[in-house]
Amino acid sequence: MATPHLGAEPGDFAPDVLMPGDPRRAARIAETVLQDATLVTEVRGILGFTGTFDGAPVSVLASGMGMPSISIYATELYRFYGVRRIIRIGTAGGMAPHLEVGDVVIANAAHTDSQMTALRIPGIHYSHVPSYRLLAAAANAAGVGDPPPTGRRRRARSPKAYVGPVISSDTFYADRPQTNDLLVAHGTLAVEMEAAALYATADREGGEALAICTISDLLFSDASLSAEERERLFDRSVQLGLAAFATA
Ligand code: HPA
Repeated sequence: MATPHLGAEPGDFAPDVLMPGDPRRAARIAETVLQDATLVTEVRGILGFTGTFDGAPVSVLASGMGMPSISIYATELYRFYGVRRIIRIGTAGGMAPHLEVGDVVIANAAHTDSQMTALRIPGIHYSHVPSYRLLAAAANAAGVGDPPPTGRRRRARSPKAYVGPVISSDTFYADRPQTNDLLVAHGTLAVEMEAAALYATADREGGEALAICTISDLLFSDASLSAEERERLFDRSVQLGLAAFATA
């Protein structure tokens, strides 16, 4: 039986799901990374596929944009399709001054301005945190904390991976420089729009979750990636997600 937002049958999704925001990215991952991927849902154009990677079943489902959207899909995956682990593979705006476009932020916490989860436990400021096992596995696969590469042929700066907090915001076009300054002063690395709700949904449904974000733009300076470079760097975080599933 399908759910209100997913047309798949029970058993159509693998226990491990990669979750980009954009349905076309979901299709690209299915075509270029998974083996034998088949389309399992396309309700509202939110494409979902199931295939294998290195012999292990893996699904990919788009989340759409924002916390209401990702919490609908994550809830239905965990609650009705037996999904155990979801890794969001997204983009984020870099806030911390040391970040550059193409870097990866693995979110070990997600602050939020959303009320969706703040009121979940009355009287409590809820902490949005990922699965430690997925976090540790992804950080390890990304070489976080490893010494920098040495040797003459190393390039000026290759994309780096960081573990740290993100802010999951309800507004993309927000105008609040003071808030951003305070978030940076408190160690926030990047802004995106889904991680906090994904982490809270995983907690409520008894599943595991992680968000791995590629920095696609910088809040405090102009920088952008070519379309080709954006896809190549995005593929890197897909590989990190798959490595985390395989080793967690
Ligand atoms: N804000 C919110 N979400 C984002 C951004 C941003 O600047 N960049 C990529 N996702």
